[in-house]
Formats: sequence, structure tokens, C-alpha cells
Amino acid sequence: MEFERIERIFDSYVIGNYSRLPVAFVRAEGSCIWDSEGNRYIDLMPGWGATLLGHCHPKVVAAIQRQAAELLHVDNSFYIPLQGEVARQISQHSFGGKCFFCNSGAEAVEAAIKLARLYHQESGRYKIITMRDSFHGRTMAAITATGQDKYHKGYLPLMPGFNYVPFNDLEAVKQAADAETCAVMLEPIQGEGGLNVATDEFMTGLRRFCDESGLLLIADEVQSGMCRTGYWFGYQAYGIEPDIMTLAKALGSGAPIGAMVARPEVAARLTPGTHASTFGGNPLVCSAALATFRAIEDENLLQAGRQTSDYIFGRFREMAARLSIIKELRGRGLMCGLELNRDGTAIFERCLDHKVRINCTHGSVLRLLPALNVPRDLLDTGLAVLEEALQKAEDGEI
Ligand SMILES: Cc1ncc(COP(=O)(O)O)c(C=O)c1O
Repeated sequence: MEFERIERIFDSYVIGNYSRLPVAFVRAEGSCIWDSEGNRYIDLMPGWGATLLGHCHPKVVAAIQRQAAELLHVDNSFYIPLQGEVARQISQHSFGGKCFFCNSGAEAVEAAIKLARLYHQESGRYKIITMRDSFHGRTMAAITATGQDKYHKGYLPLMPGFNYVPFNDLEAVKQAADAETCAVMLEPIQGEGGLNVATDEFMTGLRRFCDESGLLLIADEVQSGMCRTGYWFGYQAYGIEPDIMTLAKALGSGAPIGAMVARPEVAARLTPGTHASTFGGNPLVCSAALATFRAIEDENLLQAGRQTSDYIFGRFREMAARLSIIKELRGRGLMCGLELNRDGTAIFERCLDHKVRINCTHGSVLRLLPALNVPRDLLDTGLAVLEEALQKAEDGEI
């Protein structure tokens, strides 16, 4: 179908709550994606971080095809064998917790917030401390948890019980906590907030403070989880463990699955009737998640991702040495960012014009969330296009 026709139907029938770029992607493989006109793009931001194994990974596709023909959906009134297997994988790769399954990151965050309140219900503690510049999703509780005013606009009054503190400021957390606080929630690396990495002192100090004060520590790993940051989960870089963790995005390699993982003692509070999801953890999405775990292990993708990260940050350092437009390198693993001394929109748009997809977040941070297995030649082409766009911006040509 021609793009104009796609656009016409879309604009007539789909609500315009996204600012969509004038491209319709129709097919993809690995780190390449093709539009409706047959153009090939190099995708260094596949699926907004969800497609961490590259598009249509053959093992994930095969698992979904097999499962779709066998048992697409059954509800949580019954045991779902694959759900148990995925939970086991998550638990064994993280901190031995138990899982609740849902369909998105916001729902995982929602479940974490509910569980934190439930856990502390006898003592009446209900407040949660979150970070400025955080992002936790778009449901009412998740936008309230999100420490960015722009996401709150038009939705007041927000949910009661959230306090925001500057990221990496332990003293501010201590000041904000009171007798009614039940939890602290943060992303180990803030994604939408501009790829800000939590410091070692902050994370270890936070763990200690939560232990001393009886607070739950919630790690939102929706973006940083599943080997994205050079560790299975972002918190593992700090030698600490959270009490609750949220996952989505890369967990299903593009199939919509989210999970909230909690220490068994905390998880025990989520008894029948307290929370639920019709589709959560159904056989179809769990087949994709299980195939994701298997592909990462079988193809040694954690290691591959680390090497790719070293390579990208090496190239970023070279660019930063040459281009004064680059203020700072941001991120960790394959959450790769360049903070610019100006708005990055023109650069990101020029890359797209040259058939390379990256992203610009927080105004001035160019972001790449490439696949763990992005081929080196495609990466080189993509980075060359990015470097040229940065040069043009530096020269005032865009
Ligand atoms: C850290 C974090 N939490 C939660 C979410 C919300 O996830 P979803 O869009 O799947 O609801 C996101 C999405 O970008 C995220 O980055």
C-alpha cells in the first residue's frame, strides 16, 4: 500500500496521540527494517528498546508460530506451563523472586506500586519516593510516579502519595522519607530522562537506607533489563538487590509481555483477588519470552552486547574529541547516549532521511538502543551517518 493511502486511513480512524514520522514500516529482519515504499533503514532503536534481539529473531518467530497453532490464549484461572518456565528464568537470572505477569511496562509499575502499598498496609505506609527525570509509564499511577511535570499536564489531580527527589541524591531521599513512606522506586539508568546512570554510592546507599528504614526498593528495569546494560538486569552493576523489579520491553522481543518480580516474602502479599490481568503471561507471549532467554544464552548475546557497547562508546569518544557539539557521553551497555549542547531533533531527522533510525530524548540527548546482535557493518554505516549529521549541525548546515 502506498504511504499516502496508509496515512489517509490512519488519520481518519486512529487517534492522533503520537507525533508520527511520515514512514510506515512493513517488514523487518535483524537490525534492518523496510518501509512501505521498499526503502531499507538501519534500525539502531528497534522497537523503542523492545526488540533487543533484532527484529523477527528466528527462534522467537518459530516459538510464536508453534505456540499460536497449539494454544494461543488461556486465562489465569488455570496453570500455564510456559508462564512458570518464564518466571523460573527471570527468577534464576535475578534475585530469586516470584513473578506476576502483565502486558506492558506501565502495568508492571502499577503492580509494583500496588504491592508496595499492600505490603505495608497494616502500618498505613503508602508514600513512594521517585526520582526527578524518571519515566515509569502512562497509567495514572505510573505518570504520578514519573518525576517530569510535562507528563502530568492536563491530568491533575494526580494520585496522592508520591514525592520526587533529584536522581543520585541520597540525602534528598532521606529528607523526603517519613513515617508514611513505603518504598523508593528508580530506574538504575534513566532512559526517557536522558540516559542518566545511577552512581555506585547512590545505589548502595539507597539499599542501606531502605534496609534501615523498612522501605521497599523498587528497580524499574523496563528499559534497562534483559542484558541491555551489560548485565542481565541493570541493578546487578551495583552488587545490590532490589525487593521488587519491573520488566517489559525486551522480555518478549516484541511480544507484549510485562512482569513484576518480588522477593518471595513480599510477593506473598499478592493473594487471590488482589490483582490480575486477563492476558498477563498467556501462552503466546510466554513462548516469545522463553525463546528470548534461550536465544540470549545459546548465542552468547550478553557478551556480544558488551563488546558492541565498548565499540560504540569508543566511536562516541572519537566523535566527542572532534565535535564540540557533543557535551557528554551518556548511558551504559547498549543504552548509548550523546548529550549535545543543543536540541538534537534536526540530527535525528537527518539520520532518518539517510535511512538510519536513532532517537532523541529529553531534547538534547541522542539515544541509540541497538540490538545485542547488531552486525558490525550495519553499525558502522549507521554511526557514519550519525557522525556526518553531527558534523553538519556543528557547521550550522542543519
Ligand atoms: C523505565 C520505564 N518504565 C516504564 C515504561 C512504560 O512501559 P510501557 O510503555 O510498556 O507501558 C517505560 C517505557 O519507556 C520505561 O522506559
